[in-house]
Amino acid sequence: MRAVVCSEYGPPESLSVQNVDRKEPGKGQVRIAVEAAGVNFPDTLVIAGKYQIKPPMPFVPGGEIAGRIDALGEGVTGFAVGDPVMALLLQQGGFAEEAVVDASAVMKRPEEMSATVAAGFTMTYGTSMHALKQRAELKAGETLLVLGAGGGVGLTAVELGKVMGARVIAAASSAEKLEAARKAGASELINYTTEDLRERLKEITGKKGVDVVYDPVGGDMFEKALRSTAWNGRVLVVGFASGEIPTVPVNLTLLKGCAITGVFWGAFRMREPEKDMDNFSELFKWFQSGKINPTVSRSYSLEEAPEALRDLMERRVVGKVVLATGRE
Ligand SMILES: NC(=O)c1ccc[n+]([C@@H]2O[C@H](COP(=O)([O-])OP(=O)(O)OC[C@H]3O[C@@H](n4cnc5c(N)ncnc54)[C@H](OP(=O)(O)O)[C@@H]3O)[C@@H](O)[C@H]2O)c1
Repeated sequence: MRAVVCSEYGPPESLSVQNVDRKEPGKGQVRIAVEAAGVNFPDTLVIAGKYQIKPPMPFVPGGEIAGRIDALGEGVTGFAVGDPVMALLLQQGGFAEEAVVDASAVMKRPEEMSATVAAGFTMTYGTSMHALKQRAELKAGETLLVLGAGGGVGLTAVELGKVMGARVIAAASSAEKLEAARKAGASELINYTTEDLRERLKEITGKKGVDVVYDPVGGDMFEKALRSTAWNGRVLVVGFASGEIPTVPVNLTLLKGCAITGVFWGAFRMREPEKDMDNFSELFKWFQSGKINPTVSRSYSLEEAPEALRDLMERRVVGKVVLATGRE
């Protein structure tokens, strides 16, 4: 079967498509015929050797897939060959025509959800739902500022914030990304490469500040957003796509009566699986009723994996992008 192989740490261009041996599922595992694989920011770090997980060489990158069950390992119940599924792969292996995964990391997907959509759904919506529901306890009528609002997790935060009844302010670096955020439900748009974030937030909120900040970007934007929060505000630390982990004067939290709240969806999923499943039940209902409409802006082939990763690294991606194996 064909797979994208990383033989040495380096840039996306060092990846190549190769024929690799098919794997049989072991005890408690399933093999999935992969139809599409989500391309995520951490993939760019794993192949460069800059991530906490360092798989032994050579390895197949890719942590998120959708497809159909192709074979069941010993002791697996609850799945049948042919079931449409989506899965997360802690040990990588997703950028391939087949992947062997622990059954515990596999979810059945609604029949009406295409593999292309499902491949980019789990991590982005799972993260934003957990962030807004359990961590920020976002309430209807509150204001939500989303930074990096046209990116993978950012766009889902815009959409979910709107569904939860918040007034959503989207901030991003280009007109194209802001237009995507507007379509996803943002009522106010800020281009932070051409406009002053703090001034615009003062104008928009009538100097009150924003109730919740969702920040997957980090860098100097974090402090600007923190200084723009309302009394009882919550600033969600989601990620550091800018490459810079911000440090801030903690007295700001005292002066503003606000909280800086960490979000680690992967750990939440492992520690509180029932709550995560409840989140997904609700997300699937919202998907089936048309309340949420995932944005997959482009499908690349396995051969185009370097281009997909490069586009992500250079901030050209709107919403999600996936690799399609041609099996859907
Ligand atoms: N905490 C969690 O549980 C969790 C879960 C999933 C992901 N994450 C993290 O969230 C972050 C975003 O992930 P994602 O999948 O949404 O990524 P993404 O689709 O690439 O979006 C990230 C956004 O960050 C902005 N950005 C600013 N500087 C950037 C730079 N130097 N390089 C790339 N992007 C830059 C870009 O928006 P503009 O161009 O508009 O600025 C981009 O759209 C990552 O750090 C990821 O590891 C965290």
